[in-house]
Amino acid sequence: MAQDLNQLFQSDPDRFSKLTLENDFLLADFSKNHIESLHLLNKEQLERIEIARNNFFGGERINHSEDRAAMHFRLRRSEVKDEIDQEVFTVRDQFLNFGDLAFHQKMKGFSGQPISTVVNIGIGGSDLGPKFLYDALRDFRGGTKVYFVSNIDGQALHDVLTEINAETTLFIVCSKTFTTQETLQNALTAKRWMIQQLGENCISHHFAAVSTHVQLAKDFGIDESRIFGFWDWVGGRYSLWSAVGLSLVCAIGATHFRELLQGAECADLAFEQDPIEKNLPVILAGIDHHYFQKNGFNSKVVAAYSHRLALLVPFLQQLVMESNGKGVDVDGNPVHRSGVVWWGAPGTDAQHSFFQLIHQGTEKLHVEFIGVTHQTHSSQEHQTKLLSNLFAQSRALMIGQKSTSPEKTFLGNRPSTTLLLKAITPRSMGYLVATYEHRVLCEAALFNINPFDQFGVELGKKLCNELLPFIQNASNPQNLDSSTAGLIQYLHKNG
Ligand code: F6P
Repeated sequence: MAQDLNQLFQSDPDRFSKLTLENDFLLADFSKNHIESLHLLNKEQLERIEIARNNFFGGERINHSEDRAAMHFRLRRSEVKDEIDQEVFTVRDQFLNFGDLAFHQKMKGFSGQPISTVVNIGIGGSDLGPKFLYDALRDFRGGTKVYFVSNIDGQALHDVLTEINAETTLFIVCSKTFTTQETLQNALTAKRWMIQQLGENCISHHFAAVSTHVQLAKDFGIDESRIFGFWDWVGGRYSLWSAVGLSLVCAIGATHFRELLQGAECADLAFEQDPIEKNLPVILAGIDHHYFQKNGFNSKVVAAYSHRLALLVPFLQQLVMESNGKGVDVDGNPVHRSGVVWWGAPGTDAQHSFFQLIHQGTEKLHVEFIGVTHQTHSSQEHQTKLLSNLFAQSRALMIGQKSTSPEKTFLGNRPSTTLLLKAITPRSMGYLVATYEHRVLCEAALFNINPFDQFGVELGKKLCNELLPFIQNASNPQNLDSSTAGLIQYLHKNG
């Protein structure tokens, strides 16, 4: 980079205060980036963001390839403004009441025993958000335990089945489309297992479903009173605020879930109303644009120095990369560059794994550090060491180290952003996740792409269905490339 971060700090004693932003939830420090102000985007780029933001909040059909709006912000509104909100409020009350029964262990199974275990069967957006928050909000949980089963690998479900008691278990089949292969297979196996354990008539007591396709869930055998709907204007990866969050409600209760929604609503209002230079999603998108579009950086590393945020990265990977990993713009023309790779792991573990590459490797990476200032555990010694590690890493990346030994030389001048959350609470998590959602929208506006479709996942699904009969019947397929045919033959011999 042309500018040197260390010199930028030396030449401006106010750099930190100029390049940080503080609100009720966090402090965002952008000062260790190669920027001199938080106005990172030009007029035309800001206009594009403004249009995207207005169309989003205006309920326009911005997911044009699927001819749908994307209105997940409606799921966390605290006031009814129209008929759609009214419907959202009605379903919200229904699934919160249902989940609260499980939270208080007042829901009874077929044999009359209280439900104390929930198994969420879902994948992608029907899994990653609730699973991340189940882990993050551990301190807000009651006594109901939740397992998450997503993978089609039967091992995932079988491992859970060996640990649970059918009499006290509720399966929640969570699928926007109710056609996803993994989810339907896992749900079918779970249903067979449940019938084996408690008999044919038990299903209505031990299954619930969440879907936009209520009829398909009914056809599967789930009692209609236990099917919670949502709407095609909620994308899978933006759906945790809907009934997709039901398993989380069972764990943390309706009150905490409402707080989560309140936090997200704060992010919605801030995104809608804050001036551009104080608008966090816009600034975060601006920083990414600066490095990835203008300076050829290759990937984003997220290092959350919090055990509770261990599953943040898998959640963000779907949110960001399924949204913005696109090859064409909104007019169907090829794009030069779209979303980059996001990866990472919690600190300090990451320091003892891939941080070598971050400090001395040749990849051009941007790091986003996340820390939490207030902990609920009482061990201050751990907390001070954890945060000194975080601050030391961003400083080391920036200042580097001179040495007569080339191996011990750190070039430094490596940029990072630090987000310091005050605490992990339902409200702060709602705020954080919704802020990331809005950042994705801003980045998509800058790339001029549609962040709300995901056709890139379809081809693999189609080819899987084409290959399945050859694998099931152990027959040798014709007209296949020799690699795929060879792999299938090897499987037939060794499976
Ligand atoms: O395959 C990708 C995807 O469509 C995601 O976008 C979605 O979150 C996931 O599959 C699960 O889909 P569903 O909730 O319809 O089962």
